[in-house]
Amino acid sequence: MEFVKLFEPITINGLTVKNRTVMPAMGMAYTHDYSFTPRLRAFYRERALGGVGLMTVGPAAIDVRGSAPLMPGLFGDEHVEPLRSFTDELHRDTDVRLATQLIHMGRNAFTFVTGEKPIAPSPVPSRLTGETPREMTPEDILEVQDAYVRAALRARDAGFDLVEVLACTGYLISQFLSPVTNRRTDEYGGTPENRMRFGLEVIRRVRSALGTGFPLGVRIAGHDFMEGGNTNQEAALFAARAEEAGADAVNVTGGWHETSVPQLTSNVPPGCFVYLARGVKRQVNVPVFASNRLGDPELAERTLRSGACDMICWGRPLIADPELPDKVRQGRLDEIVSCISCNQGCFDSIFSGARVSCVLNPRAGREDELRVVAAEVPRKVFVAGGGPAGMECALTAAEAGHHVSLFEKEGALGGQINLARVPPGKRELQKITDSMSRRMARRGVEVLLSNPLTAERVRREAPDVVVVATGARPVGPRVPGADLPHVVNAWDVLMERVADIGRNVVIIGGNATGCETAHYLTVLDVPEPAVFTFLLFHTAEEPAFARKLLHASGRTVTVVDMVDRMAGNVGRTARWSLMKSLRLMGVRLKTGTRLVEITADEVVVETAVGREALPADTVILAVGARSENRLASELAESGTRVITIGDAREPRKLQDAVREGFEAALAL
Ligand SMILES: Cc1cc2nc3c(=O)[nH]c(=O)nc-3n(C[C@H](O)[C@H](O)[C@H](O)COP(=O)(O)O)c2cc1C
Ligand code: SF4
Repeated sequence: MEFVKLFEPITINGLTVKNRTVMPAMGMAYTHDYSFTPRLRAFYRERALGGVGLMTVGPAAIDVRGSAPLMPGLFGDEHVEPLRSFTDELHRDTDVRLATQLIHMGRNAFTFVTGEKPIAPSPVPSRLTGETPREMTPEDILEVQDAYVRAALRARDAGFDLVEVLACTGYLISQFLSPVTNRRTDEYGGTPENRMRFGLEVIRRVRSALGTGFPLGVRIAGHDFMEGGNTNQEAALFAARAEEAGADAVNVTGGWHETSVPQLTSNVPPGCFVYLARGVKRQVNVPVFASNRLGDPELAERTLRSGACDMICWGRPLIADPELPDKVRQGRLDEIVSCISCNQGCFDSIFSGARVSCVLNPRAGREDELRVVAAEVPRKVFVAGGGPAGMECALTAAEAGHHVSLFEKEGALGGQINLARVPPGKRELQKITDSMSRRMARRGVEVLLSNPLTAERVRREAPDVVVVATGARPVGPRVPGADLPHVVNAWDVLMERVADIGRNVVIIGGNATGCETAHYLTVLDVPEPAVFTFLLFHTAEEPAFARKLLHASGRTVTVVDMVDRMAGNVGRTARWSLMKSLRLMGVRLKTGTRLVEITADEVVVETAVGREALPADTVILAVGARSENRLASELAESGTRVITIGDAREPRKLQDAVREGFEAALAL
């Protein structure tokens, strides 16, 4: 596909942007005192050099009460100079256009962070923080609007080319817009007109302060996805009014943080929310940006061609691969590191107050610390194991100029990715293997499949270094009946090695593997997505009946575990979505439950209230894994340098595997 639209310039109120790619605002937590740190500087510089058209720095705090010190500030004059030197540098060295986003979190701010009780249109508790804000007085309203204006002027003085006002995600302006959080009886509450007043006044006042010629954007929720909240219709109306009030661009994202509709997880279909941008675009004349899960360049190009929007937001795709725009423009598609929407390094980190990192890009947030430099002495490197740790190590080592051979005992690369990608919504993981194998081929890594590396071969061929990345193997519980024929392992189920799975299934182990296997089993009876489109398009079934089909699992699936919280090793932003799916599919989750015995047709468990026998014609074990590092032991006395990484060292998360692969390669 030719990327014609993606690289067409566009002009926003006199500001010409070289292409249609936007890096939207993302809180990175690379500061702890509102300052613009060297880490932020290096992160953004690398993305600017990678070819993005319009890059949003921040969000930036307009005051303390509506923010967190993990974001840069624009509420003090001292914030201007460091940002100015940064924008000057990027304007000098690149042709990126720079935006910043002005944020006030309203009721989603934390007292323990700011030291002040959060304020909001009405005292409606926040599901995010558990706190109840104070209702804003007319004086508060004026004060906050003044803060927006002053921050916008500082942004202009700091050299930004565009200022974006955040009016989405359940933060302050969207709290005014929504009847869910705005219960006011004055001129800022009640009718849609009144609820729009605060946001429109902010836009009007910022516009008037900046002058007519300065580009001003607004970011809105295309649909709040909140019960009783605003839909795409109200979003489009607000966008049209924002345009009248002076907005030059409308960035349309998905719903609120508090919604129960997933926004960013890998089960959100690519391009899912483009229809929201399209709905807004019909009502406005200014450029519209579409957002969320548009990282696939072909999808981005097709979306632009469809006329749904004028620009495409690439958030996490640019964390994973800063060079994405240039790689697409230069036709280097096989070099792209595709974001898999796992949220493990980025969104999950933010929600636990940690710095953003990336599962697939160990350099994200460490741009100045970690660089792949050419090896002074190229070495002969053997990597045993073609899972993520081994592949990342092979890739990085080859990039540094080493001669790398990768040995994989199976007939395909991927290791545990090959099972992790099977449950619903996890297919994105396949991109890791696809992307890494393409990049290994480009860099000349010799990949030997169905070829386990042996100690004998190491002795014969004498590599300088052996990297053991042989992963892990599943373990089973030591209870009576664990070796009965109807007892199988979750890994074998996910790899489709188990032909007969009964109707009454008990899964032992409620970690990610156990819960995701449960999800997988319950959707085996659900028709494919295309079937639903067909049924609804032709009105073959009523939507209510189609939905029943969607939620109908043909099996009784029970997950038991001693822990008191299932899927505890799943990241915060993905866990609730998995739990919701299990609930919708009727999976029974039994926490605080100890396995006692497995019989021919039952699983006997013990809970706080006594013993219970659960009927089971298939029992699936998901109780963990043990490192597989025999090769390292065999080579211990050989005199060969051996580095053990990833699960072969200790079973952990994907991010640990990739990071260790990368770091091992740098240490060769
Ligand atoms: C770590 C992180 C922080 C984010 N912070 C903000 C924010 O402060 N303001 C905002 O408008 N969107 C924020 N977002 C949402 C992104 O701008 C973007 O809409 C979202 O990541 C979906 O796009 P993507 O699929 O291209 O990543 C954040 C996203 C991530 C991953
Ligand atoms: S951590 Fe996962 S979701 Fe976040 S940018 Fe990296 S690959 Fe994408």
